[in-house]
Amino acid sequence: MKVSVIGAGAVGSQLAFALAIKNYENIAIIDIKENLARARALDIMQSSSLWGFEGKVKGSGEYKDIEGSDIVVTTAGLARKPGMTREALFDTNCKITRSVAAEIGKHAPGCIMIVVTNPLDIMAYIAYRESGFSPEKVMGMAGVLDTARYKYFISEKLSCSPSEVEALVLGMHGADMVITDGARAGKKNLKDFLSVKDLQGLKERTKKAGKEVVELLGSGSASFAPAASVSLMVDSIRHDRKEILPCSVHTRSAYGLGDIFIGLPAVIGRAGVEEVVEEEIGEAARKELLDAGKKIEKKIRKLEL
Ligand code: LAC
Repeated sequence: MKVSVIGAGAVGSQLAFALAIKNYENIAIIDIKENLARARALDIMQSSSLWGFEGKVKGSGEYKDIEGSDIVVTTAGLARKPGMTREALFDTNCKITRSVAAEIGKHAPGCIMIVVTNPLDIMAYIAYRESGFSPEKVMGMAGVLDTARYKYFISEKLSCSPSEVEALVLGMHGADMVITDGARAGKKNLKDFLSVKDLQGLKERTKKAGKEVVELLGSGSASFAPAASVSLMVDSIRHDRKEILPCSVHTRSAYGLGDIFIGLPAVIGRAGVEEVVEEEIGEAARKELLDAGKKIEKKIRKLEL
């Protein structure tokens, strides 16, 4: 299997590294800063005997090197600086995503595309339209990350293992994230162990979890957890696991949502987004989801696609 990563920044290069140590055979990192892409690839390859992987990572400045990819991940675009919202990246990342998606459509027409660039749900929609791909071949990474962050904060609060926690975060990757109720730690329903105030605090922290990292870094954005989140999605495609993962996907009218991309539970397998799953998420979450959908729709309808 060949996986290409557009953008040799922190998320792109950590993703390439994660895939290498998971024994992916063929990985390409592409960046307009060709030397950066080549440096990242070389650095990863120099660790191959230490990690014991056999795959090849190639760095390049040219889109032709994504040819033959089964999966292409685009991380290309500006990241937030302290004080910025993801939405502030809109104009610049819109232009970048349009051109990247068109190049992916041209050089790797059979691939599955995973979008990481922010503001995520809009960029995923732009990538879908500009590439000319069918909706099941395009997905955005956000819900897996937002859910992982929520799980971590819960585990920290309850002093339990994050792997014991079940949770589901949907909606927009931003302030209009929809953090569904019903999170559990083992057999415990959180509502029985945490006060409403504590639970609300964990939800608020989750909504601002990316920002918390941005502010601490001072320059740059989160990368370890985002890269790990994409690698989980890539694994589900590669091994045809058909895992239900919260991803930004075309709604296919699920939950009464329109022609947009937004975070929903989706079956991710070798064919891409194999199904959008309508789970029982409760009235309040459904309403929040529809409200977030309306905001995304408004932005999308303003785009000339
Ligand atoms: C974050 C970026 C990936 O949430 O949006 O850290």
